[in-house]
Amino acid sequence: MDKFVIRGGNPLLGTIKVSGAKNSALPCMAAAILTEDEVILENIPQVNDIETERKLLTSMGAEVELGYGRAQHRTRIKCAILSDPVAKYEIVKTMRASSLVLGPLIARTGIARVAMPGGCAIGGRPIDLHINGLEAMGATITQDHGYLEARADRLKGAHIVFDKITVTGTEDLLMAATLAEGESIFENCAREPEVTDLAALLIAMGAKIEGAGTGTIRIQGVSKLHGARHRINPDRIEAGTFLIAGAITGGDLNVDCCEPKHLGALITKLEQCGVKIDVGTDHVRVRSGGELKAADITTEEYPGFPTDMQAQYMALATQAEGTSTVIENIFENRYMHVQELIRMGANITISGRTATVRGKTPLQSAAVMCSDLRASASLVLAALVADGETILDRIYHLDRGYEHFEEKLRGVGAQIRRMGDVFGRK
Ligand code: EPZ
Repeated sequence: MDKFVIRGGNPLLGTIKVSGAKNSALPCMAAAILTEDEVILENIPQVNDIETERKLLTSMGAEVELGYGRAQHRTRIKCAILSDPVAKYEIVKTMRASSLVLGPLIARTGIARVAMPGGCAIGGRPIDLHINGLEAMGATITQDHGYLEARADRLKGAHIVFDKITVTGTEDLLMAATLAEGESIFENCAREPEVTDLAALLIAMGAKIEGAGTGTIRIQGVSKLHGARHRINPDRIEAGTFLIAGAITGGDLNVDCCEPKHLGALITKLEQCGVKIDVGTDHVRVRSGGELKAADITTEEYPGFPTDMQAQYMALATQAEGTSTVIENIFENRYMHVQELIRMGANITISGRTATVRGKTPLQSAAVMCSDLRASASLVLAALVADGETILDRIYHLDRGYEHFEEKLRGVGAQIRRMGDVFGRK
C-alpha cells in the first residue's frame, strides 16, 4: 500500500488550484441514469471514487467515457440501455455513495437492486431515509441477502418531511421525483451546494425543480428527461483543506478556482483564529496573522461549519494558543484522527461528541495510519508542521477524494512524496 513521506517545516507559498467537487460529481453521474440521451459533465476530479462510479454505471449497461486530458476532466455518459440495473456489493462496499443510483434506477427502469452499503469508519451510515422516501413515492422495497430490491410501475409525487437532514438522501429522492407522476414537496432538505449543483444539472435535463439550496424543494414530475452538458462546482472541502494548509504552515497561499461563497463558515472561523484572509471572486488568499488563537467549532449542516472540515480544523487547533472545543454533531464516530494526532504530540481529550484540544503543542513526526478520507487529510496537515519526517500509511483513503494531492502540495513548497509499496500492492 502506498505511503506518504512528509517532512514538516515549510510554509506553503504560491497558488494552488482546486479541482471539481467529488460530492457533486457522484450524484450528477448518477443522474445520467434518468435519460437515454448523452450527459456530459465537466470539471470532474480525477479521484478513485469517480473511477468507482464509472465501473458501477458501466456494470449496469451504461457507456461511460472518462477523460482527463489537458482541457478535459470530462465524462460522457449514455444510459441508452440499462441491461442490469444492479449495484453489486463488490462495488458498493468500496463506495457507499453508490446508494445514489437507487432513486434514479427505480425512476427510470421501475426496478433497482442495490447492495446495502454498510457502515464505514465514521459511522453506521444508514439509508433508512432514502428507503422511507421511496416507499412514500409508491416503491415496494424488500431486503434480502444484503441487497435492497425496489420496484415501482411509476413513482408518484409525495409530500415528504425528512426526519433528519441528509445530503445523499435529498439527492436520491430529488432524482427520483423528477420522473414521478405529479408534484413532490420535500421539506427539511439538505441545503449543501452539492444539492444545488445536482438540481442545476437536472433542470438542464428538463426537470421542473424549485427551491434547491433551501430547506423546501418542489418538483413537478415529467415523463422524460433529455441529455445535457454541465460543469461541476469546485470542491469546497478540498479548498477548505488547502486554506488550513496555508494557515497551519504560516504561509501565504492563494487557493484558486474555488467558490468563496461556499466557504463562509470556515473563513469566519479562520479569521477568529487570527488568520488573514482575502476573498476574491474565484480565489481566496490565506496568510499568517501571527500566533494562531484557539476557537471553538460545532459541525452543522450547510451553511454551518462542515463536518467534512472538522478533522482538518482539529489539526490547526493543535497549533493555536489556548483551548479549542470541537463538537461533532453529524456523525457518531468521526474522531479516528484524534489518536494519531495524539501520537504526534497533540493534547486532545474526547468526551462523547466533544473533543477538547489544548494548544499550542509542538508536533513530532511519527508513523501514522490513515482511516478515512478527511482524517487522512488532517494527518497530512499535521505532518506539514511536525518536526521531522512523518510516514502516513494507507493513503488510498486520500486518493478517493483528493486529486493529485502530493503534486499540488509540492507545487507550493511542501516536502511530500509518495512511497510505493515495495511489493506493488495497492
Ligand atoms: C454526504 O454523506 C457526503 N458524501 C459526506 O462526505 C458528508 O460528510 C455528509 O454528506 C454530511 O455532509 C457524499 O456526498 C457522497 P448524510 P451522506 O446522509 O449523504 C444520518 C466525504 O468526506 N442518516 O447527510 O451519507 C447519517 O448517519 C463524505 O466526502 C440517517 O440516519 O451523509 C448522518 O448521521 C464523508 N439515515 C446524518 O444523517 C439516512 O437515511 C447525515 O448524513 C441517511 C443519513
